Order: sequence, then C-alpha cells, then structure tokens
Amino acid sequence: MFSRFQQPATTLARGLATSSPNNVAVAVMGASGGIGQPLSMLLKLNPAVTKLNLYDIVHTLGVASDLSHCETKATVTGFVGEDQLEASLVGAEIVVIPAGVPRKPGMTRDDLFNTNASIVAKLSAAAAKVCPDAMIAIISNPVNSTVPIASEMFKKAGTYNPNKVFGVSTLDVVRANTFIGEKKGLDPASVNCPVVGGHAGITIMPLISQCTPAVQFPADELKALTERIQDAGTEVVKAKAGAGSATLSMAYAAARFTDSLIKAMSGQEGVVECAYVASNVTEAKYFSTPLLLGPNGIEKNLGLGNLTPFEQDLLKASLPELNGSIKKGEEFAKNY
Ligand code: 2OP
Repeated sequence: MFSRFQQPATTLARGLATSSPNNVAVAVMGASGGIGQPLSMLLKLNPAVTKLNLYDIVHTLGVASDLSHCETKATVTGFVGEDQLEASLVGAEIVVIPAGVPRKPGMTRDDLFNTNASIVAKLSAAAAKVCPDAMIAIISNPVNSTVPIASEMFKKAGTYNPNKVFGVSTLDVVRANTFIGEKKGLDPASVNCPVVGGHAGITIMPLISQCTPAVQFPADELKALTERIQDAGTEVVKAKAGAGSATLSMAYAAARFTDSLIKAMSGQEGVVECAYVASNVTEAKYFSTPLLLGPNGIEKNLGLGNLTPFEQDLLKASLPELNGSIKKGEEFAKNY
C-alpha cells in the first residue's frame, strides 16, 4: 500500500544512476544560463535521457558541443535564437524551463515578473504548439505566477493538460531535508520533509510535522528552521552578492524532479514529488502538495495531510500572497 509519507528514492543522491533506461527526449529551455548549464550536465549524465535538446538565445551551440563529448548515451543538440525555438521542441517528452533573469540582492522573486513573464509565455506557447503532450517543468521565477502563465498559454492553444504542467518546487524540499538532516545529525538523503504552498517567501510551507523520519523541535527552533527554509533562496542571493541566485542546488533539484518524471513515465510505481500545480486542495488555484506521479503526469494529488496549528497559521498567512501572484500571472497571459 502506498503511503504519502513514504518518499521513494528518486534523487540523484538516492540513486539517479539506477533510473530505468527509457529513451526519453528532454528539452532544456534557457540551457546557456546559470541553472541551464549544470542542469543540462546532470541530464546528460542520466542514463534514461537519450536525446537532449538545448535551447537559448545565445551560446547554446558551444554548450551543446562541450556536453556532447561526455561519454553518455544522450545525443545533445544546440538550438540558438528564436528562429530555432520550435525546432528545439520537436519530439520533446519533457520540457524543462529555467530561462530568464535571476534575482539580485534586495529583490523578491516577484520583481522578476516583468522580464520573465513574457519569456515563459513565449516558450510555453511554442511547447503548446510543437509538443503539446510533453511534461512541462517550470523553474523560471516567479514560479507562483509563471505556472499560471504557462497554463493559460496551453489553454489558449487548446492543448492544456493540468496533470502535465509543474512548477519545480523541489529545491524547497531539498533544502528542508538538508537543514533538518544537519540539525538532527541525519543523512539528508534519508530525510523527506514535504514542502507545500508556493515557491516564494511565506508561501513556502515546510510540513516538518510530516517529516520522515519523525523529528521534533522546540517551538522557537521550529519557527527559526521554517523561516530559514522560506528564506533559503534569499540566503544564496545575498551570498552571491549580485552574481545571481541559486544555480547549482536548483539544477540538482530540477534534475531530481526530471528523473522522477522519467521514472513515473516509465511505469515505476510510488513516485512522489511535491510540485506547484493546478489544485483544488485549498482556495488557491495553484498549490504545491505531494503528488503521486504516473505515465500521464499527476496520478493523484496526495493533499495536505494533517496540519499542526503552527502549519495552519502558515497556510493562512500564505494564501493572500499566493492568490495575488496567481491572478497577476493569469491577467498577464490574458493580455499577452
Ligand atoms: C531559489 O529558490 C532560484 O528560486 C530559486 O533559490
């Protein structure tokens, strides 16, 4: 019997090399960027990926040439410039989108909206046309708005499948696992803490009461740990001091999520990841919860489980911001 607390081993650390060989075609949109390059590298190392298309507006031919020399199966092809956008998506079964600009110190993810919204709209519209059945994994921030934008572009094209459009919030889970592991002296690869809600500040809600193995913290430590997970992206932005936001850990998290999609697509049972998707679990139209993944994307939304009073307060605090970000994305897409 499958349990929502039983996170299967789907991470790189937990065994990416054991992915079932599956001949999957993946397109990375924004492959020359800070996340795109390490993400493409990790996907090139995934034995289940046999075709890797790298798209960006600059430098992709060099990145593809470089990566293509790694002695793994995937055939790597670079596509550069808008003229080659549609060609880069032909045959893609998974489209991962890290394209866009990153934060600088003092910026929120929402401050990226003006630049990244139109990038995601353009890339999603092309995917909706060229590879409408593909799984879409969106990394570009603000994810709380870019996922609604992508969904609206698919709706406009008449090819929307809500079970296949994901906002990648895996990094929040990865961070929660790492920080809990550090605090409790546990191997982080053996920790699984669901993180629900959205992917920005207070909308990031770690459900530490549902962590496996079970962990307990005094109230002040629980609050501090929760806030550290919520602000972890900003911690990296500050440390990089103007040179961008998280790239390596985000690439890791996105590679983990892509690997889980691949495993689920190949029929592996019990694959669970948290991701930000169309949802009716709360009043927010998009919301991240643990999802049971299958060959056609979301097989079952596993919901919120039992929340503690502390977690219920987190949820209450997050919904107005989440609803605002969703509305902003939908309005943008309507006028795009
Ligand atoms: C982060 O959480 C870049 O949104 C990304 O660090």
